[in-house]
Amino acid sequence: MEVSELYVRLEGDLAYVEDQLRACLASGDPRLEASSTHLLTAGGKRLRPVFVLLAGMCGQYDLSQLSKVAVGLELIHMATLVHDDVIDHADTRRGQATVKATYGNKMAMVSGDFIFARALEVLSEIEHVDVHRILSRAIWRMVAGEIEQIRDMYRLEQSMLQYLRRIRRKTALLIEMSCTLGAMVSGASKETVAALRRYGYCTGMAFQITDDILDFTASPEKLGKPVGGDLRQGNFTAPVLFALREQETKQALRSLISPTQSPAQVSEAIEWVAGSEGIAQSQHLADVYLTKAETALRRLPPGLSRDAFHSLAAFVGNRDH
Ligand code: IPE
Ligand code: IPE
Ligand code: MG
Ligand code: MG
Repeated sequence: MEVSELYVRLEGDLAYVEDQLRACLASGDPRLEASSTHLLTAGGKRLRPVFVLLAGMCGQYDLSQLSKVAVGLELIHMATLVHDDVIDHADTRRGQATVKATYGNKMAMVSGDFIFARALEVLSEIEHVDVHRILSRAIWRMVAGEIEQIRDMYRLEQSMLQYLRRIRRKTALLIEMSCTLGAMVSGASKETVAALRRYGYCTGMAFQITDDILDFTASPEKLGKPVGGDLRQGNFTAPVLFALREQETKQALRSLISPTQSPAQVSEAIEWVAGSEGIAQSQHLADVYLTKAETALRRLPPGLSRDAFHSLAAFVGNRDH
């Protein structure tokens, strides 16, 4: 099954989720509402809701419960993006000006908090104690991931393990949560929840590694955000950490990268990384996680959702946006 076909199959339920997302962001304050719906209107893949709905198919599918998880997690995702663009000084996302670029940093911080609070409000309607326990833990670990990224800025001597830990927290966890909580609220068996949790974690890791590769290789038009941003901000990702294992590249990067780097130095550093083995090695690393994700899926009974999870994993590995 192609991912486009999957979106068509889920069209009706995704439209319901979309309506709920919009309803959640209504506030009565025109300025807050405009800044908070800005990112929603700009588009996005809605991948987390797709993971939630598919996980729901592994149990008793109930859209009224699943949509609460889908909406809550997509809102958490959006809130972190609004804040992330302030931290990263990013002006474009989803092909549009960011909330920060349009309304300024102060409004972006408040809007992110508002979106986050609305997420908690809708999630609080889920009557499942375990869901709240798991979710609260995931949220603080996500925040810790962003803080680790700030701590590790411009640290050329950081290890691959530190990178993996950071991306597990900042990205993989939310995808893991989408799969886990979707299955849990649908009353799926413990084995199914565990298999989906593992699948979500591995797919989430591959998703962020691919994102980090795309930051060096993608076309900004397709990606909807400028490329090269990670290196510009001193955020060293898998392609850079692998490239640093090559002596000549390491020397070049050491002389080019610093908190006072010029735009010309960043462009040159990007060329070094893009021309190194770091890209292929990162792709291999993403593939290792995707293979692990496929292995976890074998623990699910055959059927539509297992096929769909397969195509999503393939999409994550081959995506250009
Ligand atoms: C972007 O996530 C942030 C990362 C975790 C890399 P997505 O690529 O899922 O963003 P949207 O929702 O489609 O814009
Ligand atoms: C992903 O981080 C955003 C979060 C998980 C909060 P990045 O900074 O790497 O993602 P983009 O490139 O801005 O989408
Ligand atoms: Mg960013
Ligand atoms: Mg960031």
